[in-house]
Amino acid sequence: MKVIIKKNQQEAGVEGYKVFKEAIQNGAKVFGLATGSTPVTTYEEIVKSDLDFSDCTSINLDEYVGISPDNDQSYKYFMNEHLFSKKPFKKSYLPDGLAEDPEEETKRYNKVIDDNPIDLQLLGIGRNAHIGFNEPGTSFDLETHVADLTDSTIEANARFFEHVEDVPKQAYSMGIGSIMKSKKIILEAFGAEKADAVAKMIEGPVTEDAPASILQKHPDVVVLIDEAAASKLS
Ligand code: F6R
Repeated sequence: MKVIIKKNQQEAGVEGYKVFKEAIQNGAKVFGLATGSTPVTTYEEIVKSDLDFSDCTSINLDEYVGISPDNDQSYKYFMNEHLFSKKPFKKSYLPDGLAEDPEEETKRYNKVIDDNPIDLQLLGIGRNAHIGFNEPGTSFDLETHVADLTDSTIEANARFFEHVEDVPKQAYSMGIGSIMKSKKIILEAFGAEKADAVAKMIEGPVTEDAPASILQKHPDVVVLIDEAAASKLS
């Protein structure tokens, strides 16, 4: 793992953008993308730049179950707002939160990932060290699945909703098996509330209790964090 520590999320955004730029220069065509507050500054820097994704494909990590794409809490809506409306991709995939048959939807999404091997995957990390919505205890071998969100994740995501009860209890998530197949991975984490998860990911044992710890086994990972998120590293 290559660990890059920046003063704050703003400065890290520039570094995140550089990782995308280099990937494009090296021929990357398929980008795995994340939502949440973490990737926002990287997306801002990408939007300001002249990077061109019109010949590229994006595949998002996850989407809430039961939420329509035009709902402003959906991850589709988030991606349109922060990236796709300003930097269009040739094709952008997200799980369909309203799919009638969840099992078929997970199969469809696995095929999307198999047909479009990911060159660069961008990840955030949960306070409990989840990646995507692979919560602690999820098998490292799993592919796309419907995940039950833990209370800690529901609480953390409540800040985006009016009431905590409004946070969906389930989400489609790319599995760790699929994430690990990405050629290169960049994981970003900012703020003191991520410090424990970051320490477990980098210095802890590789265990399904800390899903991000599996990244120690991937050959090409950049961990981009701010000083606060790095504060519990030895
Ligand atoms: C989002 C995702 C999640 C988030 C994580 C951190 O697509 O897959 O794993 O990256 O929950 O969320 P933020 O960035 O809001 O702290």
